[in-house]
Amino acid sequence: MTRRKGIILAGGTGSRLWPITLGVSKQLLPVYDKPMVYYPLSALMLAGIREIAIITTPEDQVQFQRILGDGSQWGLAFTWIVQPKPEGLAQAYLLANDFLAGAPSAMVLGDNIFFGHGLPELMAAADARPAGGTVFGYRVADPERYGVVAFDKSGQVRSIVEKPENPASNYAVTGLYFLDGTAPDRARDVQPSARGELEIVSVLESYLADGALTVERMGRGYAWLDTGTHGSLLDAGNFVRTLQDRQGTQVGCPEEIAYTAGWIDAARLRAHAATYGKSRYGRYLTDLLREV
Ligand code: TTP
Repeated sequence: MTRRKGIILAGGTGSRLWPITLGVSKQLLPVYDKPMVYYPLSALMLAGIREIAIITTPEDQVQFQRILGDGSQWGLAFTWIVQPKPEGLAQAYLLANDFLAGAPSAMVLGDNIFFGHGLPELMAAADARPAGGTVFGYRVADPERYGVVAFDKSGQVRSIVEKPENPASNYAVTGLYFLDGTAPDRARDVQPSARGELEIVSVLESYLADGALTVERMGRGYAWLDTGTHGSLLDAGNFVRTLQDRQGTQVGCPEEIAYTAGWIDAARLRAHAATYGKSRYGRYLTDLLREV
């Protein structure tokens, strides 16, 4: 079992989704049939992580808690942290400092969806690195919207630049960061950028300067979707729907991951299935009991 702790960063303003997000957190919006936050949560669970801090805005925390509870229903333990203002991704490490208590972490952005055969193995390899940081590079058509990785001729990372005008490659850094216990100290040294945020790229640069950053390429067999715009939100919903309808499986189902990992027993899964009744989700959970 890993001693790595998880962080789901689920604050922010979601201004690109206005007016939908005027009244509800982006990360609670539906991605087809479940709240968005289920998907990044599932990613951390697939990495074997059970102690997870969830960072929200002050006003949205209650609603998140109503949906996610304390995590024990999935064999998890949640710690709730508030980010008073959206002052950047790197601020998460300052806010979660006490929670982490020196432990290595895996932080996932609450609006990122990861899917692909081999994802658990990819994350297990990152988890197994005793020191330094691992992030994942994913080829995208529009790298200028992201932190972009420049590689040298031997394939080593040379730099990471946030939203470059002239991207050095098509590889964006995804919103999943496996960092060692030094991340909060490194975040403390970061100065706000021109847009007034503590940038995650600055933390990654600190690792890079120490020769302690690994960028794993997430190949074309994976889907990395972000859901920050109306179009990408709809695309993500359609992606999930297409896969689920075709395969009869669920993408991002915490009950299934917890049951498969042995974190909850059959009785608990049966209780979950009963809660969801005759919904498709409920029937899926009932079927899982028969399969295994
Ligand atoms: P963004 O998509 O960069 O920002 P946002 O969610 O506020 O949306 P918009 O740009 O439309 O205003 O954030 C990426 C993720 O990180 C998202 O899940 C929200 C989260 N986030 C925080 O929790 N705190 C922060 O300070 C920032 C900048 C983002």
